[in-house]
Amino acid sequence: MSQYQIECVSLSKHFVSKNQTVIALDDVSICLNQNDTVMIKGRSGAGKSTLLNLMSGLIRPTVGKVIIESSCINELSDDSLSKLLSAKIGIIFQSFNLLPTYTVYENIEIALVPKGLSKYEMKENIMSLLDQFNLKNKAQLLPSELSVGQQQKVAIIRTLAKQPSIIFADEPTGSVDNQTAEEILEYLTNLKKERQVTLVLATHGNIPDKFADKIFILNNGKLAN
Ligand SMILES: Nc1ncnc2c1ncn2[C@@H]1O[C@H](COP(=O)(O)OP(=O)(O)OP(=O)(O)O)[C@@H](O)[C@H]1O
Ligand SMILES: [Mg+2]
Repeated sequence: MSQYQIECVSLSKHFVSKNQTVIALDDVSICLNQNDTVMIKGRSGAGKSTLLNLMSGLIRPTVGKVIIESSCINELSDDSLSKLLSAKIGIIFQSFNLLPTYTVYENIEIALVPKGLSKYEMKENIMSLLDQFNLKNKAQLLPSELSVGQQQKVAIIRTLAKQPSIIFADEPTGSVDNQTAEEILEYLTNLKKERQVTLVLATHGNIPDKFADKIFILNNGKLAN
C-alpha cells in the first residue's frame, strides 16, 4: 500500500497531430498526500491541463503511470475507471463543459444522479449550493443566459455537489473577478474543515500561493525544481 494518495510516476504525454509531435508533458513525477492542497503553476501551454487530465484518467499517458490509492488507473477497465471517477473524483474543467440545453439546476442534478438522493434532498442540496454562490435566482436559466463567470461558478457547484474526495480544478477562477475568485478559493480550501478533500489546482498564476500547501511549477512540460 502506497503512503501517498496520488502518485504520478515518470509521466509523459506526446500528442501527434498533422505530422507534428508535441511533448506536452515530459517525465513528470509528483506525489500527493490525502488532504493536500496542491497548485500546478505554469505559463499557457506549459502542460497543466494535460497533467490534470492524466491524473483524473481522462487521457492515457504515453509513458509512465498514475496511481490513485494504490491502484494504477491506467490499468483499470473503462468500467472500473468510471466507477472511480464517479465515486471519488471531481473535475472542474477549464472550459466548464456545461450541457447547453439543460438548465443550471439540471446541469447540477445530472451530476448527483448516482448518489440516489430523494427529489427533496436533491433540491435542498442544489438550492443551498446555488444560494452560497449567489446563483439561486438563476436555477431555471440555460448556461447561455449566464455571464461567463456565473457559468464558471455553476461548473464548480456541479463538481462540489457530488462531494468528491479528490478535486481537480483547472483554472477554477479564470473567468471571475478578484473578489469572487477569493471567495471561491476560500470556499474550496475550507471544505477541508468539514471533510477530507485533496485539491489540485492548475493556474497560470492568478491564484495566490497562500492557498496551496505545495506548489509545482511546469515549464514546457517539465517540472521545475
Ligand atoms: N489534444 C491535443 N492535441 C495536440 N496537442 C495538444 C492537445 N492537448 C494539448 N496539446 C498541446 O500540449 C501543450 C500543453 O497544453 P495544455 O493544454 O496542457 O497547456 P496548459 O498549461 O493547460 O495551458 P493554458 O494555461 O493555456 O490552459 C500545448 O502545446 C498544446 O498545444
Ligand atoms: Mg489549461
